Amino acid sequence: MLGKEVFARRREKLKNILKEGDAILLVGHPAAIRNNDNHHLFRQESSLYYFTGCKEENTVMLFRPGMTPEYTLFLRPKDAIAELWDGYRHGVEGAKRDLLADEAYEVSMLGKMLLPLLKDSNRLYYQLGLDPKMDSDVLAALERVRAAKGRTGLGILPLYDATEITGEARIIKDEEEIDLMRKSGQIAAEAHKEAMRFTEVGKTEKQIQGVLSFKFLNAGADDYAYHPIVGTGNNATVLHYRDNDKLCKDGDLLLIDAGCEYDFYASDITRTFPVNGKFTAAQTKLYQAVLKAQLETIEIIKPGTLFSEVQEKAIESLSASLKELEILEESVEEIISQKLYRKYYPHNIGHWIGLDVHDRGKYLIQQESRPLEEGMMLTIEPGLYIPEGDMDAPAEYRGMGIRIEDDILVTKDGYENLTKDVPKEIPEIEALMAEKSFLA
Ligand code: GLY
Ligand code: MN
Ligand code: MN
Repeated sequence: MLGKEVFARRREKLKNILKEGDAILLVGHPAAIRNNDNHHLFRQESSLYYFTGCKEENTVMLFRPGMTPEYTLFLRPKDAIAELWDGYRHGVEGAKRDLLADEAYEVSMLGKMLLPLLKDSNRLYYQLGLDPKMDSDVLAALERVRAAKGRTGLGILPLYDATEITGEARIIKDEEEIDLMRKSGQIAAEAHKEAMRFTEVGKTEKQIQGVLSFKFLNAGADDYAYHPIVGTGNNATVLHYRDNDKLCKDGDLLLIDAGCEYDFYASDITRTFPVNGKFTAAQTKLYQAVLKAQLETIEIIKPGTLFSEVQEKAIESLSASLKELEILEESVEEIISQKLYRKYYPHNIGHWIGLDVHDRGKYLIQQESRPLEEGMMLTIEPGLYIPEGDMDAPAEYRGMGIRIEDDILVTKDGYENLTKDVPKEIPEIEALMAEKSFLA
């Protein structure tokens, strides 16, 4: 668990991004209550957590750099009965003590306090659409600010998208985040290794998912970072396969895309391997093509490399392999220029990762691809997917979906692979699969 000084440092970062006269209002999602009970976990909205460390639902943060108060929290009041059922609440006093708020109010005061707190601001950053009730409170407050300023000639308070600010703050990871991401990656890596040991002909995708769940929770993770994909045979060619309910058959490949959330931080790993523990000749050829693309792409990661160069590297490598394996017959130049590779590699090379598996942050700055910087984290996940019904592809590859995915930190002069502990070279995978799982 991160200390309150970490969140204070992040608010300092926010001060450097915002301009004088700016205000930013961050809200969480409304409480996740389903089936008329509250036994579904509430998980704080990532940006609100990033700047406050507050894990409670119904929390709102208003930050106004240089003003007094600068950092205001609105949150649920102390309530002995509610706390008996659902646990500790910071309350107004606790918000100042535990979370270092300059000022705190009960969340029911929000509508009333927004006018005095926003009337001297020049613009407001806020994310519309997270919580419709909050949106209407904020818009009503803006209207009151407008009315109050009516005769001053200052006009309305313009609204800007808060994700512009939160994304830029979150895209460079701090030391504490890097440690948590390493831990999240290690836990997920150990889970994938156990799944490889456990997999054999006759196991179900669901049983393998169970191994991942056990390993995540047993190692201290809080949850999945996203619903895992455990897809055998042709299921692996469905990019968002989520049923995970089929039997693993002899001769099929198995694709596992799974990561955990550890103290709010996501990991995201994909590995593909044969159910029976031995790659066939055709599986080897397609697998090596994806592995080559992944290794070549990771190799160019360093500060200054453009995100578009990372994309292009994977496209070039996969396109050359599609030609070499005679899956596409056009020239490599045509495969690239006409985007013919899209038929078998239909997604992007990766995404930012952090508090969210698809983390905030821009990929383009003023329409130009953004250079990588030290402290950024991204996934590298090339894949090739040949559906069983694709009569254009050579028969030997049909019904195979292969993706290999790791989480990469951009370092001062290169990169660190946070999920490298799961093998991806064929001899290493086969050796690991020959070991017996303690869960088998
Ligand atoms: N598991 C989600 C992704 O790979 O983007
Ligand atoms: Mn993934
Ligand atoms: Mn991913």
